[in-house]
Amino acid sequence: MSGLDDVIAAETTLSEVDGLNGRLVICGYTLEELAGHKSWEDVLGLLGGDLLPAVTLKSKLGMARLRAFAVVAWIDDGILALSITEGLRALMARLPDGEDAATALLLAAAPAVFVPALVRRKAGKAAIAPNPEFGHAADMLAMLTGTVPSDEAAAALNAYLVTVSDHGLNASTFAARVVASTRAGYTSAVLAALGALKGPLHGGAPGPVLDMLDAVGRPGNAEAWLSAELARGERLMGFGHRIYRVRDPRADALKAALARLGAAGGMDAERLALAEAVEREALKLLKAKKPDRALETNVEFFTALVLEALGFPREAFTGVFAAGRVGGWLAHAHEQVEKGRLIRPQSRYVGSKAA
Ligand code: ACO
Repeated sequence: MSGLDDVIAAETTLSEVDGLNGRLVICGYTLEELAGHKSWEDVLGLLGGDLLPAVTLKSKLGMARLRAFAVVAWIDDGILALSITEGLRALMARLPDGEDAATALLLAAAPAVFVPALVRRKAGKAAIAPNPEFGHAADMLAMLTGTVPSDEAAAALNAYLVTVSDHGLNASTFAARVVASTRAGYTSAVLAALGALKGPLHGGAPGPVLDMLDAVGRPGNAEAWLSAELARGERLMGFGHRIYRVRDPRADALKAALARLGAAGGMDAERLALAEAVEREALKLLKAKKPDRALETNVEFFTALVLEALGFPREAFTGVFAAGRVGGWLAHAHEQVEKGRLIRPQSRYVGSKAA
């Protein structure tokens, strides 16, 4: 059954995923020019265009985080019983819908507030209010831990948020564009995107990457454990991609962020050695399994390591992904509203014919 491979469903000025050459361009800049060099706010300003202009965006986002924090009071036992991604979806659904800049700003700010609040409340701790003076990534970490993060930790989270900020017409972004095309509003578009992101074949993979590392246990076990998984027909989490036929450039950007964090003492050396062994063996085994299809390390593999080192529990990883990708979702929803039409493809009926 078709996965719409190679179907062009939108024209965009937001990002280009060049799967053959392993290149990601966001608003005219390569990922290498952005990750590790620009703040997520800067990239949001690039993506947001006239909806979220870059001027004073840092302070506007800080104020929007404060406004979003009011919604944290809605966290009740029902929301605490949900997964963090589902809890995030429930809180985002409390935000008003609209197609205006104020709605977009609140939606852009909210996941960075809701995810740390949900993590803390699920652990029986009080949520921490944002500090609008901080950068977006630093504040997200401060709301998670209750302490001012190191510059290196804030830089690593910022590099992550930038790295995942937009990525062509991935499943969640497509979902956002479909809903935006109905003129339902940006909150509805972001909620649809969150639903798509939740799936393990999209944004739900980094948690399972860590489960895999835990199960492997030590570098010497990697080959035997991974071979057994493949023999059972399982997929190795953190490898393969629908579009990239060479290495995912986002994996390299995050590997670099991880190396910088490690050099500053923010990464456990044993964990890193285990991850390197798993990556090495997995690539060898996947090459032997599918010699004609380059199955390379994807963004989720290093996401798992970066977010774990920063102190996020694995069930929060998809929510942190949403905190970065919400910039792309909003930009695509806006582009769809400004330049697109109702998205309404056709299906071919292959069922039984009426008598
Ligand atoms: N481990 C083992 N085998 C794999 C893997 C993997 N990670 N990825 C693909 N394959 C194999 C499949 O079993 C299939 O083999 P077959 O032809 O014998 O059935 C073949 O490669 C092609 O697989 P498809 O599912 O057609 O490839 P697709 O392009 O749809 O898959 C996907 C992309 C879903 C990401 C896949 O590689 C996968 O499941 N990876 C693991 C999950 C993961 O890491 N997801 C995160 C993706 S990145 C992101 O969403 C931001």
